[in-house]
Order: sequence, then structure tokens, then C-alpha cells
Amino acid sequence: MKAYSYDHFGGPEVLQGSELPDPVAGRGAVVVAVRARSINLIDIRVRSGAMGPLVNKRFPKVPGADVAGEVTAVGPGVEDLKPGDRVFGAADPFKGGAFAERIALPAINLCPLPAGLDPDLAASLPIAGLAALQSVRDLGQLKPGQAVLIHGATGPVGLFAVQLAKQTGAAVIAVGSAGLETARRLGADRTIDYRSESDLPAGLRFDLVLNLSGKLPFARGRSLLKPEGRLVEPVPTIPLFIGSKLANLFRRQKHMALATAVRRADLAVLADLVAAGSLETVIAARFPFAATHEAYALVERGGVIGKVVVTA
Ligand SMILES: NC(=O)c1ccc[n+]([C@@H]2O[C@H](COP(=O)([O-])OP(=O)(O)OC[C@H]3O[C@@H](n4cnc5c(N)ncnc54)[C@H](OP(=O)(O)O)[C@@H]3O)[C@@H](O)[C@H]2O)c1
Repeated sequence: MKAYSYDHFGGPEVLQGSELPDPVAGRGAVVVAVRARSINLIDIRVRSGAMGPLVNKRFPKVPGADVAGEVTAVGPGVEDLKPGDRVFGAADPFKGGAFAERIALPAINLCPLPAGLDPDLAASLPIAGLAALQSVRDLGQLKPGQAVLIHGATGPVGLFAVQLAKQTGAAVIAVGSAGLETARRLGADRTIDYRSESDLPAGLRFDLVLNLSGKLPFARGRSLLKPEGRLVEPVPTIPLFIGSKLANLFRRQKHMALATAVRRADLAVLADLVAAGSLETVIAARFPFAATHEAYALVERGGVIGKVVVTA
């Protein structure tokens, strides 16, 4: 099958068009013919080698986690999906595999595509949408009437988080740059452009701070919390995981790291919201599979508002 793959870590130039063996559906897995996939920052970090021991050194590697497509084969033990089913979901982002004609995935990483949901939209949902949902709902435990600061609200995760927080009934303050008009349209009550306002107005305190930009130092993030507020970091480093779990036992303010879990039930939550018109997925650009290099180049240049989708 046709794929894009790389044989060593590095910059965009290591990604090459290639011919790889067809995947096989092992126990609990299915093969999906990919109709659309979308790019996440993690694809680029994995390819660059920046993820260290979290990523094995087995090559070739195919980038990409988010997919939508059609099941072509099911492995032993899969009862709830069959060939012909339209599905969407995600691979383990550290393993990838979406930038190929076909991918083998655990069935539990996939959700049936609701009728009428465009595969391009579905492919833009999984990692960014799940990251936002699990940050706001699970780590953040956001409740109606609370206040949330989304620092980095104009990236793909932030744009989903703004909407999910607003739907919860929270007051949403969004920090970002060029995409702030989009964040406002999607529900942000107040926006702050970090290019012109180097700090937040004094005195603001939040029930939840999502440090999606990764630019809020811990002490600054913590100083923005109410006495029982929660601070969520986007990158789950081992010291943060262990250190914050211990420290959280002894303090009312909680510090947590996001480690997005690909779960069918949460994919269904996102798909239902999109199908009901309650969650918008902003697509910045669509490219054909043959233009995969251009698609990654666009994301790597930065400044894109929304997701970049690559179709079959
Ligand atoms: N741990 C997990 O499981 C997981 C899963 C998914 C994502 N993530 C992480 O979540 C984060 C957000 O993902 P994303 O795809 O939305 O990333 P992104 O596209 O890079 O978005 C970053 C956001 O931060 C803003 N920003 C950049 N510099 C800033 C500054 N100096 N001050 C304030 N805001 C600033 C950006 O604004 P502009 O673009 O408008 O300039 C944008 O809103 C990333 O760190 C990503 O790696 C983690």
C-alpha cells in the first residue's frame, strides 16, 4: 500500500512517499481504509525524535494518529465492528500509522461514524477533541458558573476547549493571537491577545486554568487559581505526573498533566456533539494524500487556525 514514512528521526525531509506491506488485523484489531486523517503537533514531535524514550526506534514509522474511514477486515475477538462499517478514531499518537492507505487499529480506538457526519470533519476530531474534552470535563471537573482561563485557546485543542467549557456553563477567558475572533465566535466571553497584552489583567482568579500554550510557568499558573482551582498542563512529563500526584494529596489546588486517552465512549460524545451542531470543528485546510508534504509544511510553519485534513 502507499504510505508516507521515515526511516530515522528528523525534520520534514525525512518523510518520504513509500510502499509498505498491508497491515493485518490482529486480535481485537481492525483494518481501516483511510478516507481522511488530520495532523496533530504530536506527529511532528514524534518524527523529530523529541519524544525520547516514549517512542521506540523501530522503523519505518508512518506518522499520524487521527483517522476516519471504512473497516476492511476484523481480527479475532472483534464483535462490534464489521467490514464496511464507517468509523473514526485514533492510533496511539506515539505509534502513528494514519498517513497510509490502510491502518490496523484496536477496535476500542474507533467509534462508528454517525450518519451524515463528514469523514473529513470526523478525522479532525479525535486527538484534539479528546484532549479538550478530557481536560475540561475530567481533569478540570468544570462546573456551571465557574471561570476558566484557556491559555492557548486558538490552537485546535483550545478551540474545542472553548466550546466545551462554554457548553458547561462556565465563563471562558481565551488567550491567543490570530484565532481569537474564532474563539469569540465559538463562545469565549473575553479574549486576550498575548502579542499586545503581555500579562493578564490583575486580580483575575479561575476555577480552572488550561495551560495549553505551555507558556505559563507553574508559579504563575498557580497564582491565577482560586483556593480550590485546578491547573492543567499539556505535556505529561514523568516528574510532573509523579510530583503533582504526591503534592495534590496535600493541597487544595490541584496540578495535573494531560495524557489523552483514546476511548470509544468519548469519541461518541464528540461525534454526537458535532452531529447535533453543538461542536464546531474548524478546518483550516484540506489536502489530497499526494500533497502530504505541503499539509505538514503548513502546520510546521504555524499560524494555522484549525485543523489540517489530508483526504484519501
Ligand atoms: N498530552 C496530551 O495528551 C496532548 C494531546 C493533544 C495536545 N496536547 C498538547 O496541547 C497543547 C495544545 O495543542 P494544540 O494542537 O492546540 O497546539 P497549538 O496549535 O500549538 O496551540 C498553542 C496555543 O498556544 C498559543 N500560544 C502560543 N504562544 C503563546 C504565548 N506566548 N502566550 C499565550 N499563548 C500562546 C497559540 O496561539 P496562536 O497560535 O494564536 O499564536 C495557540 O493558541 C500542545 O502543547 C499539545 O502538544 C497534549
